[in-house]
Amino acid sequence: MTLRDALGTLVSHPAVNEFQTRLLGRSRVEAHLRPVATLTFAHVPVGTVVDIGGGTARSRAMWPTEWTYYSIDPDARVLKVEPTEKPIERLVGDASALPLPDNSADVVLMQCVSHHLDDSVWPASLIEANRVLKPGGSFIFLDAVWRKRRWFSRVFWKLDAGHYPRTSGELEMAVAKEFQIVETDRFNVVHHSILVTARPAPR
Ligand SMILES: C[S@@+](CC[C@H](N)C(=O)[O-])C[C@H]1O[C@@H](n2cnc3c(N)ncnc32)[C@H](O)[C@@H]1O
Repeated sequence: MTLRDALGTLVSHPAVNEFQTRLLGRSRVEAHLRPVATLTFAHVPVGTVVDIGGGTARSRAMWPTEWTYYSIDPDARVLKVEPTEKPIERLVGDASALPLPDNSADVVLMQCVSHHLDDSVWPASLIEANRVLKPGGSFIFLDAVWRKRRWFSRVFWKLDAGHYPRTSGELEMAVAKEFQIVETDRFNVVHHSILVTARPAPR
């Protein structure tokens, strides 16, 4: 095992990840995400949200109790962490093969996950997100982006368990290949981040 692999195992531990995301300004990032999430259930009292790579399922808190929330994550360690009283359906699975039927989700969320996905899994994960989303549903994509010229950003990326950071343009272009983009928000909280809301492209 290389030093990088060992570091990756440590920093991907759910407890360490919680600490790391707090350090990276999690609550300030959520201030951008929350209004977008709130819009998805404003007129939909009961629905289904699928959180791809949901981790500790912190995002569960953003949707009403009446909504069904699936967190799909390959890391079985997160099963032991319950961040909220709201019901959580946890499935161990991979972003490139979601264990859910077509057209089953009102919302698909992918938050801080794409930088964990290599170039074979990342495009497949978007195809899967599109497949499980109902027509008219919402895809919410958020991640920190790669910026070569920011030295502290490069240092944080070295310490991250995800080894595939991409530029904002690369991420937006990949989403646009599978979805119709409704809005893109770019902001800076330690890392530069991109938040994209999109609808499934007509099939
Ligand atoms: C930085 S954490 C983000 C967790 C959560 N989305 C959040 O924002 O709190 C990245 C998550 O992606 C998950 N992940 C890594 N590879 C994955 C894959 N191939 N498919 C789905 N999830 C994956 C990890 O297990 C981890 O829980």
